[in-house]
Amino acid sequence: MEESATQPPTAATPSATAAKLAMRHVDFHYGPFRALKDISLDIHDRAITAIIGPSGCGKSTLLRTFNRMNELIPRTRVTGDVLLDGTGIYGPDVDVAVLRKRIGMVFQRPNPFPASIYDNVAIGPRRHGRKEPDVQEIVERSLCRAALWDEVKDGLKGPALALSAGQQQLLCIARALAVEPEAILMDEPCSSLDPAATLEVEELMLELAQEYAIVIVTHNMQQAARVSSMSACMMMDPDRAGVLAEYDATSLIFTNPKDKRTEDYISGRIG
Ligand SMILES: Nc1ncnc2c1ncn2[C@@H]1O[C@H](COP(=O)(O)OP(=O)(O)OP(=O)(O)O)[C@@H](O)[C@H]1O
Ligand SMILES: [Mg+2]
Repeated sequence: MEESATQPPTAATPSATAAKLAMRHVDFHYGPFRALKDISLDIHDRAITAIIGPSGCGKSTLLRTFNRMNELIPRTRVTGDVLLDGTGIYGPDVDVAVLRKRIGMVFQRPNPFPASIYDNVAIGPRRHGRKEPDVQEIVERSLCRAALWDEVKDGLKGPALALSAGQQQLLCIARALAVEPEAILMDEPCSSLDPAATLEVEELMLELAQEYAIVIVTHNMQQAARVSSMSACMMMDPDRAGVLAEYDATSLIFTNPKDKRTEDYISGRIG
């Protein structure tokens, strides 16, 4: 007994294979409608995971389940386990404000507040009790990190809504970074951007992936192939519940999918 207790950890021990985020047998309901069915997956740290699949298969629902954003919608229900660093996030003692600080979110349409560029980034740190001049330093660091500082540093008091769509999306990423998250969820972050702004956001994602777990929902297969190292392909089963058809390294999903539905989707035959 004593001998086995002192054995060194192997690659199969949970600590060696730990995921930043994970789901285990997760079902999600909007009222009586089951939108997610038996989803289990691990999201790797310091990597980009793409969630792909046809419209309505539950990609956004899955993303929002990772930081309890779905709770803002009445009559919703989650079962199964959603884990951050191996700990359940739906437990009774979890502080949702802290959870959403740890897991940031960037939406499809850039959604800066109708306030100055500076205040958009400062709002999170201030809410979490940070004071000037700390806040000023965080704003500068976050805007630098989001590759926006040089463009806005002379107009920080100007309205965020006067920025271009691409700049607004970078600002929203800076706002997410300002509270020092550990993971960032992005729901089609480039769908309202032109190709040049899309490339800028993609470059930023790749850079941020050195530090954070990033989960991105995208309908753009080239984008998934360009930026992600893992891809989760979702589908709808016959009763319209979202299921995970296939989850694997992006290079395998795009060259040698095992699931016929994945192959049909990525080759444009469905969706
Ligand atoms: N607030 C809601 N109330 C009820 N049903 C919802 C709600 N939001 C989404 N649904 C349903 O849940 C299912 C999954 O929706 P979801 O938005 O997660 O899909 P998606 O894969 O993100 O689609 P898209 O690619 O079009 O964004 C759909 O059938 C949708 O109609
Ligand atoms: Mg969606």
